[in-house]
Amino acid sequence: MSRTVYVNGDYLPEEEAKVSVFDRGFLFADGVYEVTSVLGGKLIDFDGHARRLARSLAELDMAMPDVDLLEVHRELVTRNGIEDGLVYLQVTRGAADRDFAYPAADTPPTVVLFTQSKPGLADSPMAKTGMKVISIPDERWGRRDIKTVQLLYPSMGKMMAKAAGADDAWMVQDGAVTEGTSNNAYIVKGNTIVTRQLSTDILHGITRAAVLRFAREAQMKVEERPFTLDEVKNADEAFITSASSFVMPVVQMDGEAIGTGAPGPVAARLREIYLEESRKAAV
Ligand code: PDD
Repeated sequence: MSRTVYVNGDYLPEEEAKVSVFDRGFLFADGVYEVTSVLGGKLIDFDGHARRLARSLAELDMAMPDVDLLEVHRELVTRNGIEDGLVYLQVTRGAADRDFAYPAADTPPTVVLFTQSKPGLADSPMAKTGMKVISIPDERWGRRDIKTVQLLYPSMGKMMAKAAGADDAWMVQDGAVTEGTSNNAYIVKGNTIVTRQLSTDILHGITRAAVLRFAREAQMKVEERPFTLDEVKNADEAFITSASSFVMPVVQMDGEAIGTGAPGPVAARLREIYLEESRKAAV
């Protein structure tokens, strides 16, 4: 069955949804996006994603589209019968003749949203087995705090991971881990959770913010600072967070077991708390 997608004010069958070949998202990756998960037909952390969208747009001198985004998210979830899955949203600077300089500020943005059905999203078998990661150099641009659609290097990283028989790659800059290809990275040593501090080096994960809040509320110790690959290999546990994976344990780095080589209790506990609390707050 064909999905219904949203393009610039219209709900269309996916085959009929089109954007211009002159769209700056297509020509320059001049656009930003958000991914919001859906559990039990409801949106997880919607406000956080909406706030980060506003920030990404502002950083690129783009206006917030005049659209009720919560309503469009809900309408797509309903029309596509999504129980568990994702809503993808993309806003680009719109279509204009190819020119590096931005077009006039009144150029209408392109606003696209679509859903991806992922039955059992919160029951991923990987939460029980854990994932394997490799390390790769972070060769992305310097404004990773802006959630742009410029995702070629993360895609290359994912392919490098696959080629190495792993599930994902953690990127390393100046000897310290920045983040995963599409997630924030954490280690646990003793009773301390360590994750890189917010800066332009990483995306300010919405799941990260919620998980760190829950960790502190549960009296867990959190250190926001860079950590090295040696620290990863000597950690008791490691995990990632993102809207699509929630909290997912990491059990191997570059072929070496982390801790016992099995998912650890801190990641399991945080996953449980995050899923429980965010389901309660879902809209
Ligand atoms: N990725 N870091 C990067 C580079 C990301 O692409 C993402 C999200 C995150 C986690 O952010 P959040 O918790 O807000 O999802 C961190 C999304 C899920 C994606 O590209 O599909």
